[in-house]
Amino acid sequence: MKPQELHKLELLLPQDKIAKVIKKLGRQISEDYEDKDPILIGVLKGCVVFMADLVRSISVPIEMEFISASSYANGRTPEEKVDMSGGPEISIKGRHVLIVEGVVDSGRTVQTIIGQLRQKEPASIEIVTLLDKSKCRLVDIDIKYRGFDVGDDFVIGYGLDEAQKYRNLPFIGKVANE
Ligand code: IMP
Ligand code: MG
Repeated sequence: MKPQELHKLELLLPQDKIAKVIKKLGRQISEDYEDKDPILIGVLKGCVVFMADLVRSISVPIEMEFISASSYANGRTPEEKVDMSGGPEISIKGRHVLIVEGVVDSGRTVQTIIGQLRQKEPASIEIVTLLDKSKCRLVDIDIKYRGFDVGDDFVIGYGLDEAQKYRNLPFIGKVANE
């Protein structure tokens, strides 16, 4: 990030706080999925930093798959359309699936993914998201595991982008309105 852009950013969640919450999610998931061999399906690209940490705090055997989805074409403008590509390369029939998201906003992305995965007849589908913007929800979805509820602010860092930038920030920041 260029120094002149720093004033736009407000620290929302520091690294240590995020780490603690991810460890807790990992413990919960490990308990709930004992002997279930879950498949974690990460939603690219926002999931990557969170998922890398999450899987390392899960103590039961898991598999990792990825799916690409984007509902924000660029920057901060929400788009109604959800574009999807990729998806699990293995059969998920009869398997326990856990969708891994960086942030759930309107819920459309996750809803679209669930709709597609359901056709493949998994035993169960749950969602784990680092951030939940529950105030912004436009569709009815059940989130079983959430790290933080962050209100309706646009946030960046820890995998989350603004126009593909800032995913590498090790903390989560709020973009201040100019
Ligand atoms: P939804 O379909 O409205 O739930 O949007 C989820 C997707 O929108 C996420 O996977 C992100 O790519 C993007 N998104 C929503 N809110 C934010 C935000 O605050 N920062 C960065 N990306 C966001
Ligand atoms: Mg994005």
